[in-house]
Amino acid sequence: MNEWSSGEIYESYVGRWSRLVAAEFLSWLDQPEGLRWLDVGCGTGALSSTILRTAAPAEVVGVDPSAGFVEYARGTIDDDRARFEVRSAADLGDESFDVVVSGLVLNFIPDRQDALRRMHAIGGTVAVYVWDYSDGMELMKYFWDAAAEIKPEDSDQDEGLRFPFCTPAGLEALFTEAGFADVTTRSIVVPTVFESFDAYWKPFLGGQGVAPAYLRSLAESDQDAIRDLLRERLRTASDGSISLTARAYAVRGRAAAAE
Ligand SMILES: C[S@@+](CC[C@H](N)C(=O)[O-])C[C@H]1O[C@@H](n2cnc3c(N)ncnc32)[C@H](O)[C@@H]1O
Repeated sequence: MNEWSSGEIYESYVGRWSRLVAAEFLSWLDQPEGLRWLDVGCGTGALSSTILRTAAPAEVVGVDPSAGFVEYARGTIDDDRARFEVRSAADLGDESFDVVVSGLVLNFIPDRQDALRRMHAIGGTVAVYVWDYSDGMELMKYFWDAAAEIKPEDSDQDEGLRFPFCTPAGLEALFTEAGFADVTTRSIVVPTVFESFDAYWKPFLGGQGVAPAYLRSLAESDQDAIRDLLRERLRTASDGSISLTARAYAVRGRAAAAE
């Protein structure tokens, strides 16, 4: 099983939180009804399903290189306006859309400028969101801080260090360089509440996503040491629950086609 293959496990790790961000993100985009939307790196369909539910689109096309995620999206989204294809951002270019969006994907695309230029060529409004890996995505930040203490030699694996452009200024620079006009950014903070420590920890054991895949690569004793440190650190309420927040940064721009 690779980093992005099992839709169900991904949903429990991050998909469910992306759905919360997607709702705020679409309300910020505030697009009229009846448009054609493209969701790049649609994964399990977190953003696509929210577009279908809240934006009254004419059509939503979701593309993602993970066959397992596309299968999950097809199996859970029953809507004649939607279709899902196994394709990566590098394969875009043969259709045009009113709105091109992408949730939690840009940092995973090796050639980000190429991807943004493709989106620019086929879209009117283009907008994406990514996690604030270095600070406000708390469930991951706690994990990487604990991992760095147990395995300091792996500290370069920390997504906060690997994705330094996931800031408002970094996203604005990427969009401006790709040729977008009227570039604006905003932050979106959503609650991530776990009923217990086990509810927080279990999704990390599924191997889906960067931190879970890293955890899986470790010896069992190191995995246990990270878990125990996190159990000690995370603030637990009297009912056993753990209340964190997750911050995403969103950026939008206008492509030439929209002028
Ligand atoms: C964190 S998930 C986000 C999925 C979904 N958009 C969401 O908000 O839940 C990252 C996704 O990026 C996809 N991905 C990775 N490389 C990609 C590429 N080059 N082009 C398009 N999608 C890519 C993965 O398959 C995975 O579905």
